[in-house]
Parts: sequence; structure tokens; C-alpha cells
Amino acid sequence: MPATILGLGMALPKKVLTNFDLEKMVDTSDKWIFERTGIKERRVAENESCSDLGALALKNALIDADLSPEEVDALIVASGSPEMIFPSTACLIQEKLGLKKEILAFDLQAACSGFLYGLAVADALINSKAYKKVALVGAEKITAFVDWEDRNTCVLFGDGAGAAIIGSTPQAEFGLVSFSLYADGSKAPLLCIPAGGSGMPASPETIKNKKHFIQMQGREVFKLAVKNVASACQEVLKKAKLFPADVDFFLAHQANERIINAIASQLGLSAEKIVLNISRYGNTSAASIPIALTEIYNSGKLKKGSVILLAAFGSGLTWGAALLRWSKDFSRKVKNGERDAENQNN
Ligand code: UT7
Repeated sequence: MPATILGLGMALPKKVLTNFDLEKMVDTSDKWIFERTGIKERRVAENESCSDLGALALKNALIDADLSPEEVDALIVASGSPEMIFPSTACLIQEKLGLKKEILAFDLQAACSGFLYGLAVADALINSKAYKKVALVGAEKITAFVDWEDRNTCVLFGDGAGAAIIGSTPQAEFGLVSFSLYADGSKAPLLCIPAGGSGMPASPETIKNKKHFIQMQGREVFKLAVKNVASACQEVLKKAKLFPADVDFFLAHQANERIINAIASQLGLSAEKIVLNISRYGNTSAASIPIALTEIYNSGKLKKGSVILLAAFGSGLTWGAALLRWSKDFSRKVKNGERDAENQNN
């Protein structure tokens, strides 16, 4: 009985910030941003908190899975921008949705790779047979850590949340097939938020020196992402005894369209297999994979048996890949898109 995805949901903040809006804020252009990243616009949370977005995404995923909140046995929230250092955003979401008390609820910090790491943890929890239904949320209000005066980073990020319910399937050939996950702490300085933790607590000085914002050496991260992720993808395919030609959808963390295309080209994957929504949302960190997965599911493109190659990379550095054979029948309620539209406006 392999672990598999039983339901998906997403939530987005209302405010849209376009490249043209950014042109008025920093020395940049729509042309530069789109050509270098593939981004046209992103969402920015104003009144919505990280746990608001995560709770709404999870509510939608539960509806899709036809489950009530009481049926959740464990809740994992992957986030690089948790609401507080503690308590966990998972506990805040638990309370918002009225999940039962007898659950495991915790945050997972693996930055943009968080959803993929979370899938591996959920897979292990389901395979342990101690947990039957695991809720996995990728939720971000990452723009809270963006320096809106730094053109190197402020054009890249956006907010949002996606959620998946992981359970088991009696069909042995479906579900989560293989994982290859990595971390390399020697590359930690390449992408970090230096202050606000116990290492550099908030002080007038840290604020003055903008140490609470995302700092990134983009070019280095770009090169490592392409090299490492392509190799992790090859590994998961090998473990599953599959070839690039068997992949129906290549769904990579939406950080930069050029990175995604470069990985796909190294793997020999054709363009129509690449899932892209970065133009509309930018880099939503741990939320990008579940948002993109929910969108292709809602579009009706995923068929039972579809082979999905997932890939991620981010601060840590962390990176990896996973192979998923889609096991769910298409849901008409979701296909109509009414539920998501309804809930997003709540
Ligand atoms: O999800 C977490 C993982 N993060 C990532 O995956 C990000 C990985 N990195 C990237 O996506 C890319 O490196 C960036 C999109 C961040 C930058 O693209 P790039 O092609 O690597 O550009 P660059 O950093 O090499 O900069 C090229 C030029 C520089 O000017 P000079 O030195 O050539 O005169 C930058 O100052 O572009 C300039 N530049 C900009 N120009 C207009 C940098 N940002 C901007 C901007 N608008 N927003």
C-alpha cells in the first residue's frame, strides 16, 4: 500500500504586484525580469498571514480528498517564512481548522525544498502505519523578508500556499515511487536571512544594516541548482527503473524559468512536459510545488497513472527530486474550479 496524494488545494493572497509596479519601485524593467526569470507578476500578502494562507490551502485539500479535519493524524508545514519562530505555523493552522489534539503538528524548515522534504517525511509516516492521513502544507509569506529596495531579490518572490493530503493506496503501482534528497550546509551563506534568529537577534543595528532580509548570490545558486537537481532527477528515475521518456510532467520549484528549462534540457525532457506557472506567482518558495501541482490537477491534465517528476532546490543548500505516479481519479467538483474561487475570496 504505497503512500500517495489523496487531495490537493491552494490559496493565494489577493494583491497582485506586476513587473510594471516594480519598475516604479526599483531600477528594473518588465523586460529584464521576464527575460531573466519568466516572471510577469506575483502575489503579495497584505492582510493574509502565513497560517491564513496555509489553513485555506489545507481546507481546500481536505474538501478535495473528501475528508473532514478530524481525520488528519499529522500536520507538517513546510515554510521558509513561518509566522513566528515558535509556536509552529503548524499549530496555528491546527487551531484555525479545528484539527484534533491527538496529532503530530510541526514545521519543517528546508526553505524552497520544504515541500519535497515534507513529502518524504509524510511517505515515511504513512509507511510506518502509525499515521493514516498526513496533511502537508507549503505556506509562505516570504515577501515579509524581501528588501523592496534590492532589485537583485525583490523581483523574484511571491506569497501563497499549497497543500496535499497524503494517505495510502491499495494499488501497488501508484503513489510516491522514489526520492533523492540532499543538503549541503557549506553553501549556507549563498542564500540566507542572517538576522532574527538566535545567532543574530534583532537590534537597531541589524535593522539598519538590513540583516532581516533575504540575501542571495543568485548566479552561484543558479549554477548549483541546475547541476545538482538534474542529477537528483536522474537518480529518482533510475531508482524507479524509468527513463526521461516515461515522464509525463516535469514539475520543478518555480524559482526561475531558465533554471527549469536548463534542467529539463539536461534530462532530455521536451518542452510540453514542463509545468510552469512562475509568470503569475514568482518564486513562492515551499509553496511553489503544491500550487503548481494543484493547478495542473484542477486543469484536468493529470490522469490516473501520469508520471510526475518533482524537483526542488533552495537555501541550505537543499535540493532533491521525487517521482510520483498519480493515483487519483479526476474530481468534477475541482475541475469546475468553483471551490477554489469561492474559498480564495473568503
Ligand atoms: O528559490 C531559491 C533559489 N533561488 C534561485 O533559484 C535564484 C537563482 N538565481 C537566479 O534566478 C538568477 O541568478 C537571478 C534571476 C537572481 C539573476 O539573474 P542572472 O542572469 O544570474 O543575473 P546576474 O545576477 O548575473 O546579473 C546580471 C546583471 C547585473 O548587472 P551587471 O553587473 O551585468 O551590470 C545585475 O546588476 O543584471 C543586473 N540586475 C538587474 N537588472 C535589472 C540584477 N537584478 C536586476 C533587476 N533589474 N531586477
